[in-house]
Amino acid sequence: MIYAVVNTKGGVGKTTTAVHLAAMLSRKGSTLLIDGDPQASAASWAAWRRETERTPSPTTTVLAGKAILSEGKGLAEKYKHAVVDAGGRDSPGMRAALLLADRAIIPIGASNLDAAAMDDLLSIVEDAKQFNEKLVVRVLLTRIDPRTKDTGEMLTYLEEKGLQVLKSKVCERVAVRRAVGEGAIVQEVGKDGNAVAEIEAFFEEVTK
Ligand SMILES: Nc1ncnc2c1ncn2[C@@H]1O[C@H](COP(=O)(O)OP(=O)(O)O)[C@@H](O)[C@H]1O
Ligand SMILES: [Mg+2]
Repeated sequence: MIYAVVNTKGGVGKTTTAVHLAAMLSRKGSTLLIDGDPQASAASWAAWRRETERTPSPTTTVLAGKAILSEGKGLAEKYKHAVVDAGGRDSPGMRAALLLADRAIIPIGASNLDAAAMDDLLSIVEDAKQFNEKLVVRVLLTRIDPRTKDTGEMLTYLEEKGLQVLKSKVCERVAVRRAVGEGAIVQEVGKDGNAVAEIEAFFEEVTK
């Protein structure tokens, strides 16, 4: 199964979602993590992970633009699971990731700014579906304020756009940010039970 974590917007939690998904999948079988973002944040995470000798780990590679499809396809076939962290703004790369993937995960925050930035994303997703009929698209609400759980308006908006939203949500949690900054996932740091439960619920739902 190939997953692509995509959004044209930066800072929504793509890399955080991708590295958590890849590290959790690597517990189940061989996993490839394709860093498709020119900023190479997933590759930095992988380097920190090697330094701290955490296991199990996905194999990580960096690909840009159309190579995410042309090279990513052959590489992904050698693994049980693959996850693409498709960088913001790089639409050739994002398109390639959406053509490669079986499942696309779109992390978004709950603010109006996140909604306003979605139109170009939606047209890229619609184009991809024309060529990739197997593609299943799910939205993941991320970086949600745990005090307010203020997602009602966003859910209505997404429904109007015909997008399916995962039931699991990931709140803004310091432990999540810190874990990724250490080459870990939040389970491995183990300081925030709520964060762990959210990430595990996301994993169960998205891999089901
Ligand atoms: N659930 C979360 N809780 C706390 N901080 C988060 C969470 N998700 C992402 N972040 C932080 O938000 C910033 C952007 O996240 P990142 O995953 O790099 O987004 P993107 O890849 O979409 O640009 C990073 O500083 C990251 O540590
Ligand atoms: Mg990123």
